[in-house]
Amino acid sequence: MTAFVRDQWYVAAYGREVGRKLLGRTVLGEPILLYRTQDGGAVAMAERCVHRRFPLSQPPTRLDGDRVVCGYHGFTYDTDGSCVFVPGQQRIPRTARLKTYPVIEQDSFVWVWIGDREPGDTLPPRAPWMDSPRYTVVSGMEPIDGDYGLLVDNLLDLSHETYLHGGYIGTPEVAATPITTEVDDTAGIVHVSRHMDDAECPPFYAKSTGIEGRISRWQDIEYHAPCLYLLHSRIAPAGAPGPNPDGSDPHAFHVEVVYGITPSTHKTTYDFWAVARDFALDDQDVTDFLHDNNHTVVMQDVVALNVLQKSLDTEQDGYQELSINIDTGGLAARRILARMARQSPAPQDDPAVTR
Ligand code: FES
Ligand SMILES: [Fe+2]
Repeated sequence: MTAFVRDQWYVAAYGREVGRKLLGRTVLGEPILLYRTQDGGAVAMAERCVHRRFPLSQPPTRLDGDRVVCGYHGFTYDTDGSCVFVPGQQRIPRTARLKTYPVIEQDSFVWVWIGDREPGDTLPPRAPWMDSPRYTVVSGMEPIDGDYGLLVDNLLDLSHETYLHGGYIGTPEVAATPITTEVDDTAGIVHVSRHMDDAECPPFYAKSTGIEGRISRWQDIEYHAPCLYLLHSRIAPAGAPGPNPDGSDPHAFHVEVVYGITPSTHKTTYDFWAVARDFALDDQDVTDFLHDNNHTVVMQDVVALNVLQKSLDTEQDGYQELSINIDTGGLAARRILARMARQSPAPQDDPAVTR
């Protein structure tokens, strides 16, 4: 089981999911209620009523202006979590208050801060392609019935594309090409790169870019532990010139693959996935194709990880794994996550935190 890392920002939702309808998400074991006030600001607060713990994302709980009216007995909460009404008495108990969570909307995500410290100047890592006019984005979220560490492992080792995603994004060259790994321990970032200069073009890129024939395919991963994974993917016809010294790269197509990795409980994870492209920006057929194709790929991972978690659950304690060169990035990520978790232990007395 991968320990939770607290005192961090996590993606709780896409901005488009948060509105005047109450939304419930569980992040690091903490049930959170999300909604927008009438002026459009996003609010995140504990999702369990202080009275009898009714889940506040469930009907008939409703909004009254910016206040949340519990659907069970009517306790009413303001946006700061304070209770402003209880039924049948004037006196509102001093402890009638819901915890609220710091929220930042950035790059089309609603980030919430989970922790005991205040975030201070700490900001979520960036994924600027998500709402840049120079990119077109397809995105979604899939829940996984598995430890978030399984998703981190999966994303840091793309050799699995050849086997699990053959016919979609996998070709023989992915598994055959060695990786280079660089770790920035202080920043908590793992870089894994695989550059294939003469590779088969998988349908995902052949159909979206229109390239016929073999390609140069670069995969440069940047994992910002614990919460955000970026894959900078560069596709060009094999033999085409590389990027210019000034960073411009007119001969290539660029796809930025973004994953918000959000542990929900110790055995469930939110997989926020997105694909941003810098070509065919207005081509709806390409948009539809990339959405559907990538969703299929994501579901191949989800199904595999669900099966893997079930299988691991039947293993004896202390089972052994065998790691090889392709696992360098994943092992580095595990080390960083373990170190971060040690530095942000969950409070012993917090019943909301699943341990
Ligand atoms: S459980 Fe919410 S008011 Fe009773
Ligand atoms: Fe995958």
